[in-house]
Amino acid sequence: MFSEIVPASVSAADVASREPLAIVLSGGPKSVHVDGAPRLDPDVYDLGVPILGICYGAQLIAHQLGGVVGRSSRGEYGRALMTHTGESLVLPIDAPATHEVWMSHFDAITDVPDGFVATASTADAPVAVLEHDERRIYGVQFHPEVMHSPFGMKTMARFLHERAGIEPDWTMGSVIDEQVGAIRELVGNGRAICGLSGGVDSSVAAMLVHRAIGHQLTCVYVDTGLMRKGESEQVVETFRRTMGIELIHVDAGDRFFDRLAGVVDPEDKRKIIGELFVRIFEENSGGLTDAAFLVQGTLYPDLIESGGVDGTASVIKSHHNVGGLPADMTLQLIEPLRDLFKDEVRKLGHELGLPDEIVWRQPFPGPGLGVRILGEVTRQSVATLRQADAIVREELAAAGLERSIWQSFAVLAADVRSVGVMGDERTYGHPVIVRAVTSDDAMTADWARLPYDVLETISQRIVNEVAGVNRVAYDVTSKPPGTIEWE
Ligand code: XMP
Repeated sequence: MFSEIVPASVSAADVASREPLAIVLSGGPKSVHVDGAPRLDPDVYDLGVPILGICYGAQLIAHQLGGVVGRSSRGEYGRALMTHTGESLVLPIDAPATHEVWMSHFDAITDVPDGFVATASTADAPVAVLEHDERRIYGVQFHPEVMHSPFGMKTMARFLHERAGIEPDWTMGSVIDEQVGAIRELVGNGRAICGLSGGVDSSVAAMLVHRAIGHQLTCVYVDTGLMRKGESEQVVETFRRTMGIELIHVDAGDRFFDRLAGVVDPEDKRKIIGELFVRIFEENSGGLTDAAFLVQGTLYPDLIESGGVDGTASVIKSHHNVGGLPADMTLQLIEPLRDLFKDEVRKLGHELGLPDEIVWRQPFPGPGLGVRILGEVTRQSVATLRQADAIVREELAAAGLERSIWQSFAVLAADVRSVGVMGDERTYGHPVIVRAVTSDDAMTADWARLPYDVLETISQRIVNEVAGVNRVAYDVTSKPPGTIEWE
């Protein structure tokens, strides 16, 4: 099923022009009673489009259509038991009369608007579900979208399939066909360039555009010398040899190492790497004077984060791919993934024939291994880190843990030394820190509870195989208060 996110300020006319089959009103932190709380254009309720309000969305329905949202003295947060109090047309048929739901609210609906019925309640939410089947407007106080509401997804499904009558027939195949057609029409006989980062987003965007316009697309891959083991080779192998895409591979490691000599401050490193990257990208795309289009792997969440979902802003993803391109680059953007989420992009990449190593590649910071070395970034320190990092990846893959982990990598404390003993020799080497986190979006993260035997193998292999490293530590800090990266 295809969905779009629009701000609450959207007008009923705008909603109507998008011809939605259903509308979901999300939750939110405000109380309907305070100034500045999101309001919906009341005409939206009269469009005849089925509506499901969630949490704040349910309270807004109650409030705007004439019910009462009470300001209770205490909220209801976390697990709650919800009991069905009437026949519901959105709660799943197979849900028991009382079941768990996840709650997170302070105010609570106390009276439903005229024509609505309350069909479920909890201890602190007298109206946990409200329904007006004739108008096809429904609201749930609980959060159906989280896994702690075991019947939540079925509630969403019943609303979408039965109440709104939507068939789940949207497929990735249709994305490919639609995008290929649209890109061909836009580009015509023109030329497009794409900065590849080696990550999944820019790779899939490039593949899709290549499918549409073939040799009219040229990709530029700036190899900073700061990639993980084997990744640069794989980008070249995949795009140039396997896919036959025109690829300019700029081996720029020397220039990056020259500029990074003596630099230890993380922000200085980021700045230097970012600026040089843009300069080199420009130098190498400068020859393509006839290029009129720039392909970007912008995803839907990037647009939401940049506040561009209302369609007014066309935002260049500044922290990724061809990060921070100068404003005077007069290229028109092609962003074929701008309606998609990460998991959809992965599926699309798979359908377009990209290898699993790229489709399932973990997020990787633009400054690369440069911000995983505490201290100076040199060819030597990068080589050491790369070797340790490869061991972490190999062992997690061997243990079948790769896909359950958001990011996993090694960090080299190049400016720290500790004493050890190997054989009968005293050693004085550098520590490597292993970091593995679980996360959904990198905004928060938890350290992964890796099995001890996997950690043991990683530690033994790193100390035995990587010269100059004599100690391995595992980072058990969540985010917050830590960050995922060490610099
Ligand atoms: P932190 O370390 O802030 O990272 O918890 C959150 C996510 O962002 C990635 N990251 C970066 N990505 N340029 C990037 O393109 C950067 O400078 C950068 N710093 C951190 C990090 O890998 C994680 O996925």
